[in-house]
Amino acid sequence: MENIFIKNIKGLVQVGEDFPERIGGADAGQIPIIENAFLALEQGCKVVAYGSMEDWDGIDDWRNLEVIDAEGCYVLPAFCDAHSHTVFAETRASEFVDRIKGLSYEEIALKGGGILNSARALAELSEDALFERSYSRLEKIIESGTGALEIKSGYGLTIESELKILRVIQRMKEKSPIAIKATFLGAHAFPIKYKNDHEGYINEIISDMLPAIANENLADYIDVFCERNYFSVDEMERILTAGKEIGLVPKVHVNQFSTMGGVKSAIDQGALSVDHLEELNEADIKALVGSTCMPTFLPGCSHFLGIPYGNARALIEKSIPFALASDFNPGSTPCYNMSQIWSLACIKMRLTPEEALNALTINAAYAMGLQHSHGKISLGNTSPIILTKAIPSLGYIPYSFGEHLIQRVFTKR
Ligand code: NIG
Ligand code: FE
Repeated sequence: MENIFIKNIKGLVQVGEDFPERIGGADAGQIPIIENAFLALEQGCKVVAYGSMEDWDGIDDWRNLEVIDAEGCYVLPAFCDAHSHTVFAETRASEFVDRIKGLSYEEIALKGGGILNSARALAELSEDALFERSYSRLEKIIESGTGALEIKSGYGLTIESELKILRVIQRMKEKSPIAIKATFLGAHAFPIKYKNDHEGYINEIISDMLPAIANENLADYIDVFCERNYFSVDEMERILTAGKEIGLVPKVHVNQFSTMGGVKSAIDQGALSVDHLEELNEADIKALVGSTCMPTFLPGCSHFLGIPYGNARALIEKSIPFALASDFNPGSTPCYNMSQIWSLACIKMRLTPEEALNALTINAAYAMGLQHSHGKISLGNTSPIILTKAIPSLGYIPYSFGEHLIQRVFTKR
């Protein structure tokens, strides 16, 4: 049914009309909650009324209305996942075993595995098959509570394959009940052909790929993997500058394994977000103070690769807002489940459940340009909403890691 009335909600979370665009510092520990609440939705998830059950004055029209008794359950805005690589051909479980046996992520990549391995598999798959696989992943992602998803290209590394990925993302946007943003990540790795000719590949990105993407209007953002053995700060600057010329906003991978000055450079380039940040030095933090760029941590990647977790507490001390995202991809983070990300943020980054939830909703929506519509429950919003199972507290979700606690996700009809 299109119209839904949820009553007796134990806690209606992240609800209200007066949210800042970003939340940082001491405020990050606060989440507005109405206890013993009701919520009325039209067209699947459009918020038309909410409040305390005590203030509820009945329903005029019960026709076409599904009534849900949410006793013991929480209702919260769906998570926004501002960093994913959801469109890929194959998993990389064999590399997982190589890593267990002692090879590092970087060593596997230097042997021709890693991103290049994913690119080989993707080149062989038709656009239709890639769409089918990616869309069925999206359905599971939505079921797990994600209500907006950013998806990167970057497993193409040729103009044909990069366009194939971006066209798949475009088709996903058209069919999906949740908002999707597309990011062009041609600068994800140097293909074998250009191993000793970095200039040649950068020229291909700037002179061939970007004009083709502009021509079909296939991307919202531009990303570069700025890292040793990948793209230098100078190379990133040139690629971002060219991307901006066709209207793409920078949103970049920096500081996963090393600090090279990429954070400051990306901020100077007007990046909407700087993502990864497992390594973060004083100069990086200084560059973030007062900027409008959203630092985004990816604790699923730290967990899976066994690398450090980003120092989110240092940012809280400096009142710098930050987001959390999944980084879902076959190489470094085969997990899209944002409840798991919530757990890792609490357990490993020492964030309170509330601090982490602001980073998964309000600040995450900002990191994908959806701050006006997503990450909160406000009148008129049409962004997806989560109903949990009966649980003892909100913090029980990250506490009970690995347990599936989402009963239902409401999306637009
Ligand atoms: O964000 N670090 C770069 N890109 C992905 C991993 C890519 C892969 O290994 O397939 C990441 O972790
Ligand atoms: Fe990533």
